[in-house]
Amino acid sequence: MFFSSKKSILGIDIGTTNIKIAQITSKDNVHTLETYGLVNAAFDIDETKEESIAKTVLILKNLIEKSGVSTNKVVASLPNSAVFTSVIDLPPLKDSELKAAIEFEAKKYVPLPITEMTLSWSVIEKMSDGKTRILLTAVPNNVLRSYLKIFQQAKLEPVALEIEALALIRALIGDDKGSILIVDVGAKSTHLNIVENGNLLLTRNIPMGGDTITQKIAESLKISLVRAEQFKKDFGLTQSNLIPENIKPILANIKSEAKQLQGIYQARGKKFDKIMIVGGTANLPGLNEFFSDMDAKIVNGDPLSKLTFPADLKPVISQYAENLSVAIGLALRAH
Ligand SMILES: Nc1ncnc2c1ncn2[C@@H]1O[C@H](COP(=O)(O)OP(=O)(O)OP(=O)(O)O)[C@@H](O)[C@H]1O
Ligand SMILES: [Mg+2]
Repeated sequence: MFFSSKKSILGIDIGTTNIKIAQITSKDNVHTLETYGLVNAAFDIDETKEESIAKTVLILKNLIEKSGVSTNKVVASLPNSAVFTSVIDLPPLKDSELKAAIEFEAKKYVPLPITEMTLSWSVIEKMSDGKTRILLTAVPNNVLRSYLKIFQQAKLEPVALEIEALALIRALIGDDKGSILIVDVGAKSTHLNIVENGNLLLTRNIPMGGDTITQKIAESLKISLVRAEQFKKDFGLTQSNLIPENIKPILANIKSEAKQLQGIYQARGKKFDKIMIVGGTANLPGLNEFFSDMDAKIVNGDPLSKLTFPADLKPVISQYAENLSVAIGLALRAH
């Protein structure tokens, strides 16, 4: 194209323990990571109190300033724990009938009255039997309100809010047509996402993550959480003489859920081509080996693969890349 525009988008991922940001500018299909940042900050979404929102706004503004962010256009993720997603197959319908049909279906899946939720959906595929496969997401309105308040108070303009899984797919999967199980091991929780042909098919949340491991190490060795965290990062699963055995059940639990999904998927006559381990805990030494008895190739996600950035940033960014996948995927959203 002759004319091209240069626009920057700031991706913001507010996790349970970290806020992560990435600013990307896209021009002629080249995506440049302009800046990024990460700060440790607990955010409790249930806290709709003004005080908690004000605290998050302050931390976010500080992070934005320190990272040299130059845009106020934001794409942010909604926490998995607060979003309900479901894939549903609908019979052939006229466009005018679609909304009512989706609301009818949604009532079966969401635990709150439909009037207290915001529903959105996207068509995954038109199937050969005439049915339409749809990804339905439902977010409680009070969650949306707290997020919008944060962005308004931080003087940011949210251009889109989306679920974490879609951002991960954009950052890590791209054109891969295969069947992939993404295992996103965060701090307080782990999210399993089945992706087929680039589409999200199923998500599952497990309330365990890297912080659960740190706590177990601290309890068993009677050391502080700070020391336990360092121990975990240094030795992971590779030094069984140093790291207590009782962290294994946490990971075994995660693996067993992953295997269960694999079983369900195989029962449909299909197979995961890859299991992609992502999230901060993907850095845990020995974690890939721990999953190696699953019948699929174990890989890590590389959110930097689609980006260009100054070469001198590479060593530093590489250390944080796993943690930044969601923020990068958000900032890559077409705008
Ligand atoms: N080098 C490392 N080795 C092992 N664990 C690590 C390493 N770096 C970070 N972690 C762990 O990753 C976790 C943070 O991951 P991440 O940033 O993906 O979480 P989050 O998105 O804030 O949490 P959640 O997804 O639960 O809301 C922490 O438990 C941290 O201890
Ligand atoms: Mg996360």
